[in-house]
Amino acid sequence: MFRVLVVDDEADLRLSVASALSENHYLVDQAVDGEEAVNKVHAGDYDLVLLDVNMPRKTGIEALREIKEFDPSIIAIVLTAFSNVRDAVEATKLGAYNYLEKPIKADNLVYMIDKALKAHNMVKTMSFSAPRIQLPGNTEFVGQSSEMKKVFGVIEKLSQVDTAVLIRGESGTGKELVAQALHFNSPRKDNRFVTINCSAIPENLIESEFFGHEKGAFTGADSRKIGKFQYADGGTLFLDEIGDITAGMQVKLLRALQEKRFTPVGSNREIEVNVRIVAATNRNLEEMIKKNEFREDLFYRLNVLPINLPPLRERRNDLEALILYFVDRFNTQYRKKVSGIADDAMEVLRGHNWPGNIRELENVMEHAFVIENSDRLSLGSLPEALVRSAGRPAAARLAENMDIDDSDGDEPVAGISLGAGIVPGAVVDSRGFRLDISKLDFQANKEEFEKQFLISALKAFNGRINQTALHANIPKKTLLRKLEKYGINARDYTM
Ligand SMILES: Nc1ncnc2c1ncn2[C@@H]1O[C@H](COP(=O)(O)OP(=O)(O)OP(=O)(O)O)[C@@H](O)[C@H]1O
Ligand SMILES: [Mg+2]
Repeated sequence: MFRVLVVDDEADLRLSVASALSENHYLVDQAVDGEEAVNKVHAGDYDLVLLDVNMPRKTGIEALREIKEFDPSIIAIVLTAFSNVRDAVEATKLGAYNYLEKPIKADNLVYMIDKALKAHNMVKTMSFSAPRIQLPGNTEFVGQSSEMKKVFGVIEKLSQVDTAVLIRGESGTGKELVAQALHFNSPRKDNRFVTINCSAIPENLIESEFFGHEKGAFTGADSRKIGKFQYADGGTLFLDEIGDITAGMQVKLLRALQEKRFTPVGSNREIEVNVRIVAATNRNLEEMIKKNEFREDLFYRLNVLPINLPPLRERRNDLEALILYFVDRFNTQYRKKVSGIADDAMEVLRGHNWPGNIRELENVMEHAFVIENSDRLSLGSLPEALVRSAGRPAAARLAENMDIDDSDGDEPVAGISLGAGIVPGAVVDSRGFRLDISKLDFQANKEEFEKQFLISALKAFNGRINQTALHANIPKKTLLRKLEKYGINARDYTM
């Protein structure tokens, strides 16, 4: 059950809000002012805090700042007096999820809380036992596909050791995020995470970039400079685009890795360091080794523990969680209140092959946010090229897959709504559901659909029966009966 803290100095409002929330199956606690709220948050385990603004001792805004500092993952919703926009803006800047104007209508409140917790849930980073992963710049690492869960498990293990890691994956799949996740979950997290982009540095400067130089070591070296190896001492050195370093640097790097020592350019003094090496590349190093472009010994030294990031097209299950995450992020960034995506737009996103992976999706979502004027991302807000490349309508594609005629023109499009009433399409990926056309048996296919639908819905709500029943619009009894019928165990879908 989600735990909500209601903070208001007006006892009447506090009590009525608390009872409305209790009725909706939230565990509710109360605080009479900002001071008590902060104390309770420090002592308790709340998912969400509802904050009045004007309160004695400590205002809601001050409390919000302290709560967010203490635990940024707590969702805050601010209750403001009618049209006090300044407080609302201030609260949003401090990381409040949203604000509600008084007088509070119970329905609106419950709707907003449901929505916030749902987004929060789907966006949940990793199933780490450690606190939620903290990446710089409020970035989060999203993934709910089994492929990404495996990757998260590997990250969790590898973050605890010092061995070199090589991260492989196409451009935009999140290699840098993996590197950060490894560092910020490791015992080295309080030391530096230092990146060298091996492809961006001119050849004549790269050695100095790695190892530093003495004053006068080469033309232009007019002062001493420490290299990134030394700068990262005690922390993690991330060698991005490792496939792009020259043959000469490969030799020097290998030596530094083997001996944990190096000599700055123009110096005769060796420096010892303790760094953990994480490298990444989107190039095929095995091919490069065959062509003598990459040293095999360096490869083996780096590739002790490989992590492969699958392209987005091979983990389409992540698409919705990522979209929700970007909607959330850009809502905050652009101060918008986008709450859904039109069916036809969603269909284009689902149908796209995403050669640029998550970076491409991020750019598309940002484009849509800039263009869209309504609270629903429309087809028109997507980049034209993307829509054009979507080509044939969904119905045609599905009919093609199913090998049957699509004469009635029914569009089997799916939509996604971030509101309380999720449309079924939001959780059911039509591609995940295989029709057994060989049998063309209505009953068998209906059952398979039901089963997949229920599994997707449970996944979306973390295996929580009440929430699933509510949002998928199935009476709880029916839901339980069907789960039993299909041998589905809701607990398998809790994160
Ligand atoms: N699982 C994810 N959850 C949230 N954001 C992600 C995820 N994966 C990638 N991103 C975002 O997508 C963008 C690209 O990710 P990143 O830079 O880590 O990719 P990369 O594999 O290093 O790409 P390249 O090879 O082009 O350097 C970043 O803005 C990153 O924050
Ligand atoms: Mg990168």
